[in-house]
Amino acid sequence: MNEQDPNPSASPIVSLRGVSKTVRHNGAQVALLADIDLDLRPGEFLSIVGPSGSGKTTLLNVLGMLDHDWTGEYSLDQNRVDRLKPAARQKLGRASIGFVFQQYHLLDDLDVAENIELPLTYRDTKRAERKSRVDAMLARFEIEDKRDLYPGQLSGGQQQLVAVARALIARPRVILADEPTGALHTSQGDKIMDLLAELNADGVSIIQVTHNRENAKRGQRTVELLDGRFLSDATISMC
Ligand SMILES: Nc1ncnc2c1ncn2[C@@H]1O[C@H](COP(=O)(O)OP(=O)(O)OP(=O)(O)O)[C@@H](O)[C@H]1O
Ligand SMILES: [Mg+2]
Repeated sequence: MNEQDPNPSASPIVSLRGVSKTVRHNGAQVALLADIDLDLRPGEFLSIVGPSGSGKTTLLNVLGMLDHDWTGEYSLDQNRVDRLKPAARQKLGRASIGFVFQQYHLLDDLDVAENIELPLTYRDTKRAERKSRVDAMLARFEIEDKRDLYPGQLSGGQQQLVAVARALIARPRVILADEPTGALHTSQGDKIMDLLAELNADGVSIIQVTHNRENAKRGQRTVELLDGRFLSDATISMC
């Protein structure tokens, strides 16, 4: 248990036990995730580091319920994800998780404002409320003048900002972020990290994957993944 753990007595919001994922490659079984145990307390901000190919995105895809081809136990907010059918998983994921992808996954035929609004359309958010939240996100990232443009008309960094705005607009209980500042200049990246820190201060639980040591330090705890396993002493120092 970590001394900085914000809420040590609460039961975890995310809990993995013995999660493994194996694929067949060139006739051999390859373990992409090997017996992963992980607990995220409500309100905790966890950073995951590890070399390229160590399984970080694979793990986030399991946590984000985008990948169903794995074994083990996964509880999200007291729900046993591993016992849910895919449709129920999707519903739970949409209701609880905001995912900032390593690739942006913006919809090319929706403009910036429509892309950002998308998660709110899965909920019963009223039209006026949707518009004011989209406006607030556009203002926050200083991209108001881009609202009518399509993803193909944006720079990579601007696409990343839109992807982050889309992940956060519905105020999910859990945010999964895969290199959220990857394509960005420092000042834009800092804006995203500041927003994540603010949401975390409001009680949102966050798991971020990052190569950036400064960004990793924004979390209360850092764990390192190597070849699909957490290093034995899962909590490492980034000093
Ligand atoms: N379907 C698959 N079949 C075989 N190997 C796969 C498959 N999917 C992923 N891998 C391998 O799993 C490993 C982990 O991939 P993953 O994308 O999780 O890495 P990562 O830690 O996110 O790396 P990066 O920092 O570069 O984003 C990689 O070596 C990748 O080639
Ligand atoms: Mg990755």
